[in-house]
Amino acid sequence: MRKSCRCCGGGELAEVFDLGVQPFANGFLTPEQLDKPEPRSPLVLMECVACGMVQLRHVTPAVDLFAEYAFQTGSSTRMVRHFRSLLLESIGRYVPRGKLVVEIGSNDGAALASIPDDRRCRRLGIDPAANLTEIARRSGVPTVTAFFTEELAGQVATIHGEASLIVACNVVAHIDDLDDFCRGVRRLLKHDGAFVMEVPDVDTLLARTAFDTIYHEHLSYFSVGPLATLFARHGLRVEAVEWNEVHGGSLRLTVRHGTGHSGDVSRWRDWRGIVRDWNGFAARCERERDELCEWLDDARADGGTVVGYGAPAKATVRLNYCGIGTDRLACVVDSTPSKQGRLMPGTHQPIYGPEWIDRSKPSDVLVLAWNHEREIVGKLAGYGGRVASVVRPRRGLRKLDM
Ligand code: TMP
Ligand code: ZN
Repeated sequence: MRKSCRCCGGGELAEVFDLGVQPFANGFLTPEQLDKPEPRSPLVLMECVACGMVQLRHVTPAVDLFAEYAFQTGSSTRMVRHFRSLLLESIGRYVPRGKLVVEIGSNDGAALASIPDDRRCRRLGIDPAANLTEIARRSGVPTVTAFFTEELAGQVATIHGEASLIVACNVVAHIDDLDDFCRGVRRLLKHDGAFVMEVPDVDTLLARTAFDTIYHEHLSYFSVGPLATLFARHGLRVEAVEWNEVHGGSLRLTVRHGTGHSGDVSRWRDWRGIVRDWNGFAARCERERDELCEWLDDARADGGTVVGYGAPAKATVRLNYCGIGTDRLACVVDSTPSKQGRLMPGTHQPIYGPEWIDRSKPSDVLVLAWNHEREIVGKLAGYGGRVASVVRPRRGLRKLDM
């Protein structure tokens, strides 16, 4: 249970949104696990009254979530392309020849592996998921299987030297002790190096009703202000703030040693003035839920079969929040081998490979991984049925436009 704010230490946290008691979003079940009780825990969002940081009330122990991890970066060519361009740009700017690039939360190593040899930097991945670090090492990316802590940062610095560049994409929101994390970054980062991080942006989450990105792994829902407060407490300065479309809206911060943030931080948003409309958000979530259930019921009434495309964590949240069982959605397909043969947490749809669609010819495909809509619709070129998005399914998706 969180008693104080992770960014500013403030003790007053107000409850703003309750998603109910939910299974773990990446806890894909084996058929044998179906008979056993499934772990569940509450998903309640709190907002810090002092700094506006949004965080989960209940903190699930990290080992329960990350010792084995289902999501594989390499499964999305678009994501690999995105991380590659982030790395190449940052290496060009901050990493002299032969110097060290560290990725925290390096997953299967796909991003580090994408750096061309002619860049001549040393690479090191850090990730706690043994199933993924093994894949990374097999693909030639030196990788440590561990959680990133201040202690680990010291060990890495002793063995490999300090890093000219540290990147951390979609991982900082997973970390409970951000003070220890920041001390680790400070310890490992060279005096003239840069730390580049990406996290989903909470204000875009609200604006786009992306409630399905709220799950146990995401302990924090960041905006620029609270992050700037956090880094300032650790002698780190935010040099640049950018926004991009990744995961439905993400912030990229470039952080260096020093004090006094750049003008980007104050220009970004007068975050102290933001009053978030959580009631409006909750009403929109309920409306989306009702629309999706009606659409699925109509498809079934027409005698159709609907298959979900993509089994990301956000599919688990949406299916469970909306109460969509196997009666409404027959099964889900996903290209990640480790998810195939398993079942969706809570709602128990079986997960098959995408070729299942060609074989079984369902009447409708419902894109659950809405942030990969374009890539998925592109892959459905040969499929003759209807394609819809889990967000506003009635709108449909036109394959020819893609
Ligand atoms: P993400 O939203 O966390 O990136 O997860 C996307 C999920 O969707 C992941 O399990 C892989 C799956 N996926 C496919 O099955 N086919 C695809 O073409 C893409 C882009 C993703
Ligand atoms: Zn705070």
